Amino acid sequence: MFNALIVEKDDEGKTSASVQQIGEDRLPEGEVTVAVEYSTVNYKDGLCIGPGGGLVRNYPHVPGIDFAGTVESSDDPRYKAGDKVVLTGWRVGEAHWGGYSQKARVKADWLVPLPQGLDAKQAMAVGTAGFTAMLSVMALEDHGLKPGNGPVLVTGAAGGVGSVATAILANLGYEVAAVTGRPETEDYLKSLGATQIVPRGELNETTKRPLEGETWSGCVDAVGGEMLARVLGQMKYGASVAAVGLAGGAKLPATVIPFLLRGVNLLGIDSVMQPYDNRLRAWERVAKDLPMDKLEAMIQPATLSDLPQLGADILKGQVKGRVLVDVNA
Ligand SMILES: NC(=O)c1ccc[n+]([C@@H]2O[C@H](COP(=O)([O-])OP(=O)(O)OC[C@H]3O[C@@H](n4cnc5c(N)ncnc54)[C@H](OP(=O)(O)O)[C@@H]3O)[C@@H](O)[C@H]2O)c1
Repeated sequence: MFNALIVEKDDEGKTSASVQQIGEDRLPEGEVTVAVEYSTVNYKDGLCIGPGGGLVRNYPHVPGIDFAGTVESSDDPRYKAGDKVVLTGWRVGEAHWGGYSQKARVKADWLVPLPQGLDAKQAMAVGTAGFTAMLSVMALEDHGLKPGNGPVLVTGAAGGVGSVATAILANLGYEVAAVTGRPETEDYLKSLGATQIVPRGELNETTKRPLEGETWSGCVDAVGGEMLARVLGQMKYGASVAAVGLAGGAKLPATVIPFLLRGVNLLGIDSVMQPYDNRLRAWERVAKDLPMDKLEAMIQPATLSDLPQLGADILKGQVKGRVLVDVNA
């Protein structure tokens, strides 16, 4: 028997989450059984711990869209007992049981071996949010971003994606302007390497002007909505924005003028269906380019029983940095 956070749905459609003991026979099908060590809390987890947000297919459900741990048994030749692995995406924790459990059973295709220099705890301190931040930085670099071109904007900076993006960019030698709606996180963001704090209020209003001063050489955007629309008009000529999130809304009330007159690029970032080779590349880059002391500063420790509260908090934008869930604590 082992512990898992189980979300159940009653006859009236109301969901509730609690830590329960279950047996291995309850685990879904898959080639690899993993002894989970750590998981984390992402925005999507908030939805899946709560009412589901249309993401969860069947109940009872075990959320947790990412985890890291040790292979316990494998029917696939790529993995053997004792291998250290990390999983993000593939709709695990949504359509398939996820990482809020001491054991998980998944497809071998979904796993990535932990890169040298990163243990299970560090991998989940990074988690889907940090992995996606790395994908964003890689996409910006692939489109010409270089240190010395001017400040790079990070929106939703005190959140998970934003914190890791800030730390990676600063470590790579970029000047980072961090947008936050929480002034009390200024010291934290500066400790991660931000050189400029931009109050959220300065960017979350629409403007009738399709172009403003050319300010940012790149942007990792976790917010979307009006802020993304506004930022597009402030990008330098030929610069790119990595669109990662929708913490501020899914609509994009923008004009095409920044694309046509300034050659601005809007790059879509998806971590869920990301091909294996790029996953490997991103995890290796995380191990190399994210300073582990900065990662340590982002961590808020948690256990399985803390998850119902943390799920509600992240939906309200109240989680700072990265929550690290020790499923065995
Ligand atoms: N594309 C992908 O594959 C992928 C992967 C992971 C995450 N995401 C998405 O990326 C976003 C960020 O994820 P996360 O894990 O970093 O979440 P998070 O920790 O909750 O961070 C989101 C941050 O956005 C800011 N924010 C929240 N509400 C806002 C609003 N109404 N207007 C402006 N800013 C707001 C807050 O930062 P401040 O307090 O600093 O303002 C908050 O901390 C989410 O939308 C998530 O779904 C996408």
